[in-house]
Formats: sequence, C-alpha cells, structure tokens
Amino acid sequence: MATTTTPNAFALRAASLLKGLRDKGEFKHLQVLESPMDAEVLIRDAAGKPRQVLCFCSNNYLGLANHPEVVEAGIKALKDYGAGTASVRFICGTFAPHLELEQRIARFLGVEAAYTFVSCWNATEAVFPTLAEPGDAIISDALNHACIIDSIRLATVIKKGVHKFVYPNNDMDTFETRLKEARNTIDDDHAIWVITDGVFSMEGSIANLPTMRNLCNQYGAILCVDDSHGTGVMGKTGRGTHEHHNMQGADIDLFTGTLGKALGGAAGGYIAGAKDAVELIVQRARPTLFSNALPVTVACSASKAIEVLDRDPSRVDRLRDNCAYARKQIRAVGFEVIESPTAICPVIVGETAKAIAMSKRLLELGVYVIGFGYPVVPEGEARLRCQISAAHTHQHIDALVDALKKL
Ligand SMILES: Cc1ncc(COP(=O)(O)O)c(C=O)c1O
Repeated sequence: MATTTTPNAFALRAASLLKGLRDKGEFKHLQVLESPMDAEVLIRDAAGKPRQVLCFCSNNYLGLANHPEVVEAGIKALKDYGAGTASVRFICGTFAPHLELEQRIARFLGVEAAYTFVSCWNATEAVFPTLAEPGDAIISDALNHACIIDSIRLATVIKKGVHKFVYPNNDMDTFETRLKEARNTIDDDHAIWVITDGVFSMEGSIANLPTMRNLCNQYGAILCVDDSHGTGVMGKTGRGTHEHHNMQGADIDLFTGTLGKALGGAAGGYIAGAKDAVELIVQRARPTLFSNALPVTVACSASKAIEVLDRDPSRVDRLRDNCAYARKQIRAVGFEVIESPTAICPVIVGETAKAIAMSKRLLELGVYVIGFGYPVVPEGEARLRCQISAAHTHQHIDALVDALKKL
C-alpha cells in the first residue's frame, strides 16, 4: 500500500481543537457512575474506586429512575419480547407495549394521540421538516433547546421557502411583533408554527403559555411546546407547564417531550397532539421511516413510570417542596437563583472555566453538580446548574448548600 506524505487535515484540526479546549479548561470529562441514579450515587474516583456523592445534576426529577416497579417492568419486557425487533416500526418493529405507552402518554397529556421515538431529539427533528411546508413560518424562542433549533434549520434546508422568526426569551411584545411579521409574510394557505420550551433548561424559567395561546389564536398560529423539563414536574399532578398555568392539554396543539428525565429517565421521546398531526409523522417523518423504535424495555419502564406518577402524584408535591426549600437555602448563603417553581436552579458564575473548576471542587466536597458554559449557554454566563429531585431530602439539600458556601 502506498504511504501518504500529505498531512491529514482533519487529524491536525481535531488535535488542535481538543488542545484548545484543554488549554482553556473547557474539556469535559465523562464521569463514570457505578450505581443506579438516585439522590446518592457511587461515582468512580480518579483512582478508579467507587465514592459516594450527592447527585444534584440529574433530570431524575421524580426519583423514578431506580424505582423497583420501573426497573421490574423493564426486566419483564426483556424476558417477554427480547432485545428488540431489529427493524423500523412500519416494517415489523412495533410491539404492543409501544402502542400502550403511546395511549398512556396521550391520556396523561389529555390529547388525541402520541408517537414515540428513541429520543426527544429525534422526535423534535421529525416535527418541522415533516409538518412545515414551503411558504409556512416558524417562530421560535431564542432560548429554545438545541434540538428545536436544529429541527428548524433542517426544515428550512429541506423545505426551501420556510420562513424563520426568532424572539428574545419570553419577550411577549416581540413575540407578537414576530406573529404580525409572519402573518404579513405568508399567505392564507400557509401555517404559522410557534415553538417554545415549557421550562427553559438552562434558566429554569417557564414559558408564558396563556399569553402565547391567546396571541396564537389571534394570529391563527399553531402552538407547539417542548415540555421535557416540565412533564412530571409542573402543575398539581405533574402534567406539565400547561397544567401549572391551569390550561388543558388540548390548549397546546403539539407537545414534544422526553422519557429520559422525570418519566423513568432511561431514554426516549414523543410527540403528542391531534390525531392527524401524529399520523403525518408516522407516515412521513424520516426518523420514523428510517430508524428503529424505542427499545421495548424502555417503553415498558416509561409506561410504568407514568402509571406510578398517576397513582401517586404526592411525588410532585415533594419535588415542589424541595425546589422551594433549595431556592430559599441557596439564596440565604448569598447566591442568586431565578425565582421559579421549576426543579432547575442555576447559579450564574461567569466564565466557563470558572464554572468547570467550581463543579470540580464541589465534587471533591461530595456534591455532584455540573458547570455549564459556552457553547451550551452564552459566553460569560456560565453557571452551576443545581437540579432538584423528589428523591432528595432536606438534609441532602442542606449538604448542597454547605458545599456551595465553602466555594
Ligand atoms: C428541552 C429539551 N428538549 C429535548 C431534549 C432532548 O431530550 P432527549 O435526551 O430525549 O433527546 C432535552 C434534553 O436535554 C431538553 O432539555
């Protein structure tokens, strides 16, 4: 075989980019866990030994990731159905538990239908490239999750002539201006799509869904909500951000959400809403036509998680109480946390390297909290994102606050 003397451009570039991350202290190390996700976890320390720490960086909001019934449902599914179907769903890839899970999600949210995917990322990527058509407009909050941004980008590439509008986070005046602009841009045969996170994942703030619903009605727009951080958390029974605002599921035209946070925590995502919108996704979305189903073990665990939540919504009360307690205590030691009923308490620290260094120090103190920096959040707004769970006790939260105090 001939040897090449041409430098490998990609290899040089990759080495240089990775060196840059290391030099700036922005290189992410993957922390290995040696126990199930819970309020307390075993991490693998630098010497390769397990060490117990308090976990405040998981989206295990309801503490269901290691719930005995949720675990058992997954084991039973593996025994009943094996690992999977080795096929995409429309060929021979759908098990009865997929349909049962989808009916359960639709009932839980109070909408007509739902369809599951291996992740919410996949579900979201299915939405706009499938449902939007050239001549439609999509209006998006500037702080929407990356999967929404990419879904819109993909739609504008695949369906040339889709118009995109962005408004500053939760700014309802500019949102109305964008609706007006969209209405003036498109003709009556085309649709205006509005998409927002229910709970903004880096801020812990919530979308003003009642105002958005009213404005969408006024301008004839379709309201879509990604409630990945709201489902299981917000509202009296954990239905989500719409329930927090005393709205019904049917007040939202299309939901996207994850099964990888409050609802079992394994993986998986869904879209939910009107039957025809869901059916179009089943018939035409590329992630449904060209990619395998959610593993059946995960489908059964997620179904059980929703059943457990439905049976005992007191977990949501416990979570709400923990969130209020954590905010009060964090503030009491001099940190600033946005006031909100969500389980995301970001402590802003400034530079990315500082956030990473602080989270490293917290881990030494026995508290596992992640520092988020650029490009996940804007430059200069790096933060420690403390995430609260129903699995935490007030003593766990006191230990978090003690460690923050030591910083
Ligand atoms: C708002 C939001 N949407 C979607 C996702 C993606 O979810 P999944 O892990 O199921 O792809 C996340 C995960 O971080 C999220 O925070």
